[in-house]
Amino acid sequence: MEQTFIMIKPDGVQRGLIGEIICRFEKKGFTLKGLKLMSVERAFAEKHYEDLSAKPFFGGLVEYIISGPVVAMVWEGKGVVATGRKLIGATNPLASEPGTIRGDFAIDIGRNVIHGSDSVASASKEIALWFPDGTVNWQSTVH
Ligand code: CMP
Repeated sequence: MEQTFIMIKPDGVQRGLIGEIICRFEKKGFTLKGLKLMSVERAFAEKHYEDLSAKPFFGGLVEYIISGPVVAMVWEGKGVVATGRKLIGATNPLASEPGTIRGDFAIDIGRNVIHGSDSVASASKEIALWFPDGTVNWQSTVH
C-alpha cells in the first residue's frame, strides 16, 4: 500500500495545529503508520532538503526547520502521496485553496506549516531517512 512522509514544521507545532492536521488525514481515511515529535540537527535538515541546496532560500529553510520541534509522520492509503498534497495545498499559502491546510492556516511560503512528499519515490527516500527503524505494522479495520 502507498505511503507518504508528512512533517508538521516548527510553526505548525508552535501554533497548536498538530491535532487539526492529524484529524484531516484521519478523517480522509488514511492510516497513521509512524509518528514522532523531534528536533532535528542542521545536517539532518540539509539532508532532507538536499535537492533544494542550490536555491537562494535553502539557508533560511534549514534555519526554520531546526528552529523548534517538528512532527514526523508516515501515512498510508490509496493515492496518499497525491491526495496528501491536495489536503496540504499549494506550496505558496497565498495560492493554496481555502479548505486546504496551508490555505486555511498560512500566508507565508517561508512558514507554510507542513511538508508532504511530492512523489512515491521521494516518499520512500524520506521515510527511510526519518524512520530508519521502520514504522508500526498495523492495518485499519475501517477499509
Ligand atoms: P516544502 O513542501 O517543505 O518543500 C520545500 C520547501 O521550501 C517548501 O515547502 C517551503 O517551505 C520552502 N520554499 C519553497 N519556495 C520558497 C521560497 N521562494 N522562499 C522560501 N521558502 C521556500
